[in-house]
Amino acid sequence: MARNATNELLQKAKKSKSDEFYTQLSDIDSELQHYKNHFKNKVVYCNCDDPKNSNFFYYFASNFKELGLKKLITACYREQVKDLFNTQEDEKGFFFEYTGTGGEKNKPGSADIVYFNGNGDFRSSESIELLKQSDIVVTNPPFSLFREYVAQLIKYGKKFLIIGNINAITYKEIFKLIKENKAWLGINLGRGISGFIVPEHYELYGTETRIDSLGNRIVSPNNCLWLTNLDTSKRHEDIVLTKRYFGNEAEYQKYDNYDGINVDRTQDIPVDYKGFMGVPITFLHKFNPNQFEIIKFRKGNDGKDLSVNGKCPYFRILIKNKQIRTDLIENR
Ligand SMILES: C[S@@+](CC[C@H](N)C(=O)[O-])C[C@H]1O[C@@H](n2cnc3c(N)ncnc32)[C@H](O)[C@@H]1O
Repeated sequence: MARNATNELLQKAKKSKSDEFYTQLSDIDSELQHYKNHFKNKVVYCNCDDPKNSNFFYYFASNFKELGLKKLITACYREQVKDLFNTQEDEKGFFFEYTGTGGEKNKPGSADIVYFNGNGDFRSSESIELLKQSDIVVTNPPFSLFREYVAQLIKYGKKFLIIGNINAITYKEIFKLIKENKAWLGINLGRGISGFIVPEHYELYGTETRIDSLGNRIVSPNNCLWLTNLDTSKRHEDIVLTKRYFGNEAEYQKYDNYDGINVDRTQDIPVDYKGFMGVPITFLHKFNPNQFEIIKFRKGNDGKDLSVNGKCPYFRILIKNKQIRTDLIENR
């Protein structure tokens, strides 16, 4: 096999597949419409995006005036090929600063691009310099570096709206942010994010794949979310609780290893239970911090997964109602 072909294969094998999911404009549009009041006079940074083809760049450049943006910075990473056979010079990453002039929907020309000295990794000092100048970071970062990516945003005190995998909620570091109300889920989740554009070499399989009218190859993994620390109105809406615990105790089993009850569906959270309740992860999509407090994730007092009669009902988040209706329980 030719050296170049071997290199290419090695590279593909190394890369996490979902690192190459490119976001569709329709998904960006349907999430961003809920945050329009946050962007006036702000500098937005898309730090995992090639301005020549990123729909995040396209969205912000097209809506620059409407959002009242001050500046849009878009930085592109160039992956380095580092293996035994590679003798080529490293490719440089680059960035483009857009201030609303030169035609709203214009892609940058080669004269507008500024090359980094390095590869444009979001963790590089050059990219961090641009991060420091920015107010809000909006992108779909590489899933395989999600923890590190979020940690950096928190370290530099940035506002953000980013796409991740639903599993990210279960990462210790990310759950901690959610528990402490330093980050929360955005508006769209799962099937609410319609799919991602994947490169030519990505194998399409199963039913959740298609080719759109422009010939883009789309996969719909249905397991993604938006994570943000920008306020949304949804976060202030109470979950409507219609069920009662008292009188229906048999429907809510007690955990073996924690003083609390198991609730299988968010809509079944009882209005009259003042103790701890274990709810599914999807609860977080409806979570209003004025209504509930998040206590902990998944484990009982013994450090093992929460269990009911020896069985573990999937991962549960332990919560407590902050606005308990005492009139419903005081005669108990
Ligand atoms: C999931 S894709 C999304 C691309 C684009 N943000 C979008 O939403 O269409 C992640 C992107 O991050 C880039 N990337 C991978 N590692 C990176 C790093 N260390 N620093 C910056 N970008 C990186 C990849 O090249 C890829 O384009």
